[in-house]
Amino acid sequence: MDIRPRPRPRRSALYMPATNAKAIAKARTLPCDVVILDLEDAVAPAAKHDARAAAVAAVGEGGFGRRELVIRVNALSTAVGVAAWGEEDCRALVAARPDAVLIPKVDDARAVAAYRALLGDLPIWAMVETARAVLRLDDLAAAPGLAALVVGTNDLAKELRATPGRDRLPFHGFLAQTVAAARAHGLAAIDGVCNAIDDVDGFAAECDQGARFGFDGKTLIHPSQIAPCNGAFSPTAAAIAWARRVVAAFAAPAAADHGVIRVDGAMVERLHWEQAHQTLAIARAIAGE
Ligand code: COA
Ligand code: MG
Repeated sequence: MDIRPRPRPRRSALYMPATNAKAIAKARTLPCDVVILDLEDAVAPAAKHDARAAAVAAVGEGGFGRRELVIRVNALSTAVGVAAWGEEDCRALVAARPDAVLIPKVDDARAVAAYRALLGDLPIWAMVETARAVLRLDDLAAAPGLAALVVGTNDLAKELRATPGRDRLPFHGFLAQTVAAARAHGLAAIDGVCNAIDDVDGFAAECDQGARFGFDGKTLIHPSQIAPCNGAFSPTAAAIAWARRVVAAFAAPAAADHGVIRVDGAMVERLHWEQAHQTLAIARAIAGE
């Protein structure tokens, strides 16, 4: 019997401003795995209070089914004069209890601890979007209370003065490092957004790239991005069939004493058996089994 914790599909995480009531209503019917209500950069300063109230109300109303409901708060360090936004967000969410709280612009584990002091045992997801975070990924990912890393490519491009382009070349090292940090500390890894809503081919390529880097899924900004994203981050029928063949091959009596065997003309080791189990587990979770 497999006693490992069942993986949770996080293929598609759709952002929307918490002020957009229509989008929140729509999100309850969309096929995304995660809904992220934003209180931070997608909300104008004058609307911060209303956004917080709307997010708390949405958590209370529920209706999101299997989707995880995550709220992105303002930074605790928000500029002079408005420093209380992040803190008030956190205090409101401790009572509302969404599935997780996404914290922005953190540089390291110490910064995460400041949120944890306010959020208690609520799972924390951290944006990876500052130059300092890129340099301290291992420390950041080790922060107690953290469950996921979420790449913030827009802020990072701004900080680094990088021009990502369609292939995201300036980010390749950082994307790989983020996945490594997440895996090293047992966290989910979710890729950044693609701003080009109408660039269907570019978006598909970016999803495929994120999946190849090893991300569990991708953050999204528009409902039209959900279906292609879910496709890119789901195991293919061929991958599922291969996983079944590997599991069956190792279960056969002839393989009992073998660490390495031949399946479909290729070498397969016990590590591939583990990988096959992971593929089948995520496929079952996606199917809702
Ligand atoms: N979540 C849920 N529903 C959304 C949505 C989203 N992120 N973006 C658009 N929709 C809905 C619209 O409400 C509209 O619904 P309707 O057909 O029932 O009227 C439909 O999808 C089509 O929307 P569209 O007209 O194509 O979008 P737009 O041009 O009005 O808005 C954006 C474009 C980018 C402003 C909008 O998609 C958005 O706010 N995205 C999220 C931004 C965000 O949260 N950023 C923070 C993290 S980077
Ligand atoms: Mg950001």
